[in-house]
Amino acid sequence: MTTLERAEAAEHAASQELDRIVVKSAIYTSGERDPRQPAARPPDQGKRYMMGDDPRLPRMPARPTLFDFFRLRFGPSAHPLQSARLARKSGADEKVVLACLLHDIAIAGFIRADHGYWGAQLLEPYVDEEVSWAIRYHQALRFFPDASVGYEYPQMYVKLFGSEYTPEPYIHEAYRHARAHRWYMTSRLITVNDLYSFDPDVKVELEEFTDVVGRHFRQPKEGLGFDGSPSAHMWRTIIWPTKYL
Ligand SMILES: [Fe+2]
Ligand SMILES: [Fe+2]
Repeated sequence: MTTLERAEAAEHAASQELDRIVVKSAIYTSGERDPRQPAARPPDQGKRYMMGDDPRLPRMPARPTLFDFFRLRFGPSAHPLQSARLARKSGADEKVVLACLLHDIAIAGFIRADHGYWGAQLLEPYVDEEVSWAIRYHQALRFFPDASVGYEYPQMYVKLFGSEYTPEPYIHEAYRHARAHRWYMTSRLITVNDLYSFDPDVKVELEEFTDVVGRHFRQPKEGLGFDGSPSAHMWRTIIWPTKYL
């Protein structure tokens, strides 16, 4: 079997254990397979397709809050929690603390590529414009040093992408735009507090930020995903990532 055949066989075996057939969104597999080709589908054997709650995932409450997403859908939150704590310890404005807490939610629970933009879009209806703006541009600012605040190009990026890597032109353009903007420093402070090497013994609880979130995140009473906001569908996709349609 080729690697692809093995992956498809494993996937087939996994979907056999479910009583619903899961067909992955094109974006999950694009690259691993050529998205222009028809997707190999196991015979449905009379099963229905996944619509709604995927039994492999913890069930979300009917009116989910931001913290429900952190607990039930996002990856480990040591990175954002420690970044937010660092921001708070430095005496940063609460808006900056919130931005640090939320800056990587797209990586944690949605789409990694262009995570700053996706994260900003998810949050725009619920936070101050300055917060989502800062989250959008932190992605670009991470690639550009600012000696005035002691921010250097991350060694982590040299390791991850190689020393010869240079970002695409749109990132350079975003940097130039952000550099000249009045909210530049809000976004820059996300990068300053963006902490990757931390003490694994230090445990920060989400509750440490209940007050900041309560004051600066407009939690919809219908729950995230069900309030009809411009990004509600994105939150629903995080709740039901394997829905057929
Ligand atoms: Fe980031
Ligand atoms: Fe980060």
